[in-house]
Amino acid sequence: MHAILFPPVLLKPCLVRPPLWGAEYCYFHTHSILGIKTYIDPDTYEDPSLAVHEFAKEIDPSRIRIERVIGAGEFGEVCSGRLKTPGKRDIPVAIKTLKGGYVDRQRKDFLREASIMGQFDHPNIIRLEGVVTKSRPVMIVVEYMENGSLDSFLRKHDGHFTVIQLVGMLRGIASGMKYLSDMGYVHRDLAARNILVNSNLMCKVSDFGLSRVLEDDPEAAYTTSGGKIPIRWTAPEAIAYRKFSSASDAWSYGIVMWEVMSYGERPYWEMSNQDVILSIEEGYRLPAPMGCPAALHQLMLHCWQKERNHRPKFTDIVSFLDKLIRNPSSLHTVVEDVLVMPDSPGEVPEYPLFVSVIDWLDSIKMGQYKNNFMAAGFTTLDVVSRMSIE
Ligand code: ADE
Repeated sequence: MHAILFPPVLLKPCLVRPPLWGAEYCYFHTHSILGIKTYIDPDTYEDPSLAVHEFAKEIDPSRIRIERVIGAGEFGEVCSGRLKTPGKRDIPVAIKTLKGGYVDRQRKDFLREASIMGQFDHPNIIRLEGVVTKSRPVMIVVEYMENGSLDSFLRKHDGHFTVIQLVGMLRGIASGMKYLSDMGYVHRDLAARNILVNSNLMCKVSDFGLSRVLEDDPEAAYTTSGGKIPIRWTAPEAIAYRKFSSASDAWSYGIVMWEVMSYGERPYWEMSNQDVILSIEEGYRLPAPMGCPAALHQLMLHCWQKERNHRPKFTDIVSFLDKLIRNPSSLHTVVEDVLVMPDSPGEVPEYPLFVSVIDWLDSIKMGQYKNNFMAAGFTTLDVVSRMSIE
């Protein structure tokens, strides 16, 4: 007889970390560690306007043709248009403008994003074309992304993509995040709303600028300690004591995975921020979206480990997703028991998913048997799920 003691957890990802020297790129740059270019915080410049000119090209405004307004940012309108370069074809661009009447501080905050973006060069990071600072309006010019932000794009095309296409998008985001973490840059606001999508379905990480980004994000709420944080996307240690790191970005990446696989559903639905924090603390995690391959939900659960050092590194995530793409049959096992979250906040869901055998034993008050389970080789939940009575 084969007794299933736990909802089967299949295809537990085996994430291996390549050696540090296995980085995909290597720059010769004055700000580098072990030959890998590192990010410089523009605030370390006494005069931040020097930073922007170190990292961004000044564009003559006669090269820019503004066509239409496509959105509103904290500092002014966002427009689409074209950028002319002598001897080259015009390229489509997005133009962020700083509206008139700003104070020095606002100009500095606005250009901070360009100083950060200008340090990056990666296909999955939004590319800075340059800035206009010597005439008015002050502008930031970036590559144009035809499909806009990922959350609204997915909501508009609910159910339209193959799993491989969705995993391809996630692979791109993970690759951009690996680049940022290798550069020593912590994003702090990784969410589908801050990813842009181009006409080839390529996803690029955008919205840089740390504190400013959070001021601008309508999802960011004030915590009791006074920080402004997008609670549902943020790792517990970053909410509790502002411990932001690439490991807290990995937690947010797991939430982005969930947003993508659910076509832009709101994480934790309409639960209040406080209930989200309490549920996470109690060990609950988001269930697999409908039709989500088990391997992807397992990866999400890895990203949501309480202990931040147990979360996968972005390099692990990229190689794991690459393996899934190379072996599409690994995506055929779908999490069938779609878990229903409580209707009213505070109610306990029936089948919480745990990420470790120890969490699970503790939850059923069998924590005293931890050592027996480990000694008998039942070290992972997938092994436990295959336990038989004999
Ligand atoms: N909205 C904000 N930035 C954008 C971009 N780069 N392309 C298209 N829409 C945008």
